[in-house]
Amino acid sequence: MIKVDISNVWGQLALPDLLAIEKDVFDAHMMLTDGTGAGSDYLGWLDLPVKEETEEIRRIRFAAERIRKNSDVFVVIGIGGSYLGPRAAIELLQGTNHNIGKGKGNPQIYFAGNSLSTRSWNELTRLLEGKDFSIVIISKSGTTTEPAIATRALRWLLERKYGTEEARKRTYAITDPTSGALRQMATEEGWETFLIPPNVGGRYSVLTAVGLLPMAVAGIDPMEVMAGAYAAKEAYDIRSFENPAWLYAAARNLLYRKGKAIEVLEGFGPSFKMMGLWWQQLFGESEGKDGKGIFPVPAEFTTDLHSFGQMIQQGQRNLFETMVRFDPPAQKLTIGGDYKNLDNLNYLEGKTLDYVDEQAYLGTLQAHVDGDVPVITMDMGPLDAAKVGEMFYFFELACGLSAYLLGVNPFDQPGVEFYKRNMFRLLGKPGYEK
Ligand code: PA5
Repeated sequence: MIKVDISNVWGQLALPDLLAIEKDVFDAHMMLTDGTGAGSDYLGWLDLPVKEETEEIRRIRFAAERIRKNSDVFVVIGIGGSYLGPRAAIELLQGTNHNIGKGKGNPQIYFAGNSLSTRSWNELTRLLEGKDFSIVIISKSGTTTEPAIATRALRWLLERKYGTEEARKRTYAITDPTSGALRQMATEEGWETFLIPPNVGGRYSVLTAVGLLPMAVAGIDPMEVMAGAYAAKEAYDIRSFENPAWLYAAARNLLYRKGKAIEVLEGFGPSFKMMGLWWQQLFGESEGKDGKGIFPVPAEFTTDLHSFGQMIQQGQRNLFETMVRFDPPAQKLTIGGDYKNLDNLNYLEGKTLDYVDEQAYLGTLQAHVDGDVPVITMDMGPLDAAKVGEMFYFFELACGLSAYLLGVNPFDQPGVEFYKRNMFRLLGKPGYEK
């Protein structure tokens, strides 16, 4: 189990605060499991973790094997909940430079359709020159502008390179089983498809093919991810503060009530960055509505201690932190000696980099607590594919609980339509003239 420690928030909260909210957390959990809360049509994510391999997962494995064999590059098209999860998992497990040295047999993975950047598109087309590639289009609605534009362009590239028939075999779609433009396109073109169940919203979809296919192409076993998620589904069903998801949801809600409107989620090292962005989207779209919500800010330590660390230490006291730690990796790096010692680092000779990192963490924790910042800590234990599955389920559950504690629907995102409507009007999309 993930260990959530709230001992460093006691300066701002008291035990009676926690006990007073216990019934609300219980009710929020019941609303999720009984389907009695707002947005209850979108609770399918609770049942996505499975113990046995399903037919869908078996097909994911086969497709991944095919892609691994015939592609130097696999392009994942999608935005928001249709891309952040798989990217987070791959980077956390394989690092931000996971594409280096990869090719056929173990393809490089790039993400497209998550912006409208011409520069990114030019980079991708340059990168695909002379390479064998396959694509997966991920869109629940099938109508999202960014991935739809990327789909058009990548389909054209595929068809020009391989001709219609081979391009068809190299195109996969992950979408709603019956509705939407992507479903219709996939049916007409004869692409292999995987499902986003109708009762699973985008940001809760990482444990479907949305996450599992790109992970499998990256060489991450979908059933290992599922094993962690399934164990989490069982373990995090406890209805008390022994449940770390309860503790996390309750502490952040209580801190919000005390004026802490910003949460900074901190991982130590660049490979956590995308997980931070997945978390940000999950909580941001789920909680930020009706004039409420904790503003989610992902951060990378120690890097950002040399950036907005100053703001955390001495700026406005309107934030709290959640620090995420994993066990150090087995491969150690020891700091060497230097007889001149001009950098004055010989006091670290023989120490591992992990040891220095651990002291940086402890030092930061103490400094921020001394600076009146409440800090929740999460000890994740060892990092592997099962842990990633566990983390996805844990944060989704904590997010559902948190949103119900706030009194908002965790599963809609009406505010996202506003920019789209204006953009469509400016672009002259039929039906958006006014
Ligand atoms: O979480 C969500 O629902 C959104 O972030 C969607 O995932 C995102 O807007 C992409 O939507 P779609 O999968 O329909 O293209």
